[in-house]
Amino acid sequence: MFADGVELAPDAIAAAAQAIRKGGLLGLPTETVYGLGADADNGTAVAGIFAAKGRPNDHPLIVHVASFDGGMSGVSHYAARVPAFAQQLMSAFWPGPLTLILPRRDGVGAAAAGGQNTIGLRCPAHPVAQAVLSALRQPTDGEPVVWGIAAPSANRFGRVSPTTAQHVLDEFADRTDLLILDGGPCDVGIESTIIDCTRGAPVLLRPGAITADQVAAACGRALVTPEELEAQGQATPRASGTLESHYAPNATVRLMDAKALQQALDMLGTDVDKTAKGGPSIAVYSRTAMKTAARQIEQRRMPSDPAVAAHELFSVLRELDALRVKLIWVETPPAGSAWDGVRDRLQRAAA
Ligand code: TXA
Ligand code: MG
Repeated sequence: MFADGVELAPDAIAAAAQAIRKGGLLGLPTETVYGLGADADNGTAVAGIFAAKGRPNDHPLIVHVASFDGGMSGVSHYAARVPAFAQQLMSAFWPGPLTLILPRRDGVGAAAAGGQNTIGLRCPAHPVAQAVLSALRQPTDGEPVVWGIAAPSANRFGRVSPTTAQHVLDEFADRTDLLILDGGPCDVGIESTIIDCTRGAPVLLRPGAITADQVAAACGRALVTPEELEAQGQATPRASGTLESHYAPNATVRLMDAKALQQALDMLGTDVDKTAKGGPSIAVYSRTAMKTAARQIEQRRMPSDPAVAAHELFSVLRELDALRVKLIWVETPPAGSAWDGVRDRLQRAAA
């Protein structure tokens, strides 16, 4: 029995491990979002991930490692060095929703790293992900050990990340060869926090459920932003999750504060376009209760707890897309590092 009571067939983990060993792709549940996984040291299999997603193959992927010994044996396989502060972050947050960029050891994970001399490593907390990683590290019948699963989010490039097995199926409906493990809805709901540990100080590349404040407290070091690095003339790494437009639903997303959102609704009056099928063409997703005279508006309340908001964010965007709304008006999340992950995803969805 796994997260949220989902039960897997007893041989599902073995079948998943076998698919990875044979160079295939796997829809893999993690606590953040579902990944599209392959053997991180198999260049052909990793090329299959880039092709399936339509992702440029110089955008590096995150490699997931097993949790025994705190993830350290997987780290030793892929990383050339581990700075002391990175070690402290692994002890504090692994297994969990934190990815660390480390110097890459020569000859390993090259395709997954998109040709960079660094590698992104994460030890996921989801029991299904760990069961697969663990099976791959303890092969029977003399099969080769698989050290890590390269897995970006299991969505087409630039689109909303999947947080259920059904979302993965919706993204890759044409891929009848794709094995998807159902581990239930993802607890966290947005992608891992990414910290670059190759620049002397921790650099926040992508905010997530583990906040910048928590990272700084755990390693006793102040975090640097990519903007600060650029101001010092240092090039920052390419990270597709950090592209300005990303995580985008089909509908156009607009972020407004509560006052501007209410004014926009007031200006609509009672007359609101319907979609071709007669459904609502505008959706509102806000923490604050909004008044509207128009009936043809889909209203959803954003939870006031940032962890709950993150948990449901991508599901809500997908549900609203399924209604074929043209516009999604979202109330800007509050200030403060606890909301950084949700605010970042919404800003990119709106870009
Ligand atoms: O929560 C997550 O991180 C999910 C689950 C499946 O683990 N994975 C995920 O992967 O979000 P993806 O590929 O969608 O995002 C990976 C991000 C990208 O922005 C990528 O550029 C960055 O991590 N990244 C990976 N390796 C890197 C490296 N060596 N240097 C810089 N950025 C890297
Ligand atoms: Mg992604």
